[in-house]
Amino acid sequence: MRIVVVVSLCFLTVTSFAQTKKPVAKPSPGQQIYEQYCLTCHQADGSGVPNLNPPLKQSEWVSGDKTRLINVILKGLQEPIEINGETFDNVMPAHDFLSDKEISDVLTFIRSSFGNKADAISAEEVKKVRSAK
Ligand code: HEC
Repeated sequence: MRIVVVVSLCFLTVTSFAQTKKPVAKPSPGQQIYEQYCLTCHQADGSGVPNLNPPLKQSEWVSGDKTRLINVILKGLQEPIEINGETFDNVMPAHDFLSDKEISDVLTFIRSSFGNKADAISAEEVKKVRSAK
């Protein structure tokens, strides 16, 4: 009887230990900002909404020039643009209330998500573009 108790206690200890060790899949800071501020328009998979909000995948705006990209977030965008042969001319509101760090996190996130493979953007780079306004 005592052996059964000892064995089951060991088992309980092992299983509860295993549970606390389970890795928690927490989204990166950039993904959290994306989900809070960008997802409603650009969608979870970055595919956008046809004729309304442009996609962030296979977009030269996302993977290309950093200054132009940072300015989309700081100043918004309101001009006809063409992405993958589709034209968009809706209003993207400015998100200059986000900090340099938040903007660098979210842009680094979109540049390395949705199949994009562009390099990171630092808070320092955002700061430079912001002060050049
Ligand atoms: C209210 C909807 C809305 C929200 C919120 C929004 N966008 Fe946009 N975004 C747009 C629209 C519309 C355009 C195209 C504007 C134009 O045609 O001039 C755009 C354009 C862009 C572009 C350049 C074009 C492209 O598709 O590559 C990027 C990059 C971008 N948004 C990123 C973001 C990020 C990052 C966030 C969150 C911080 C965000 N947007 C939040 C609507 C939105």
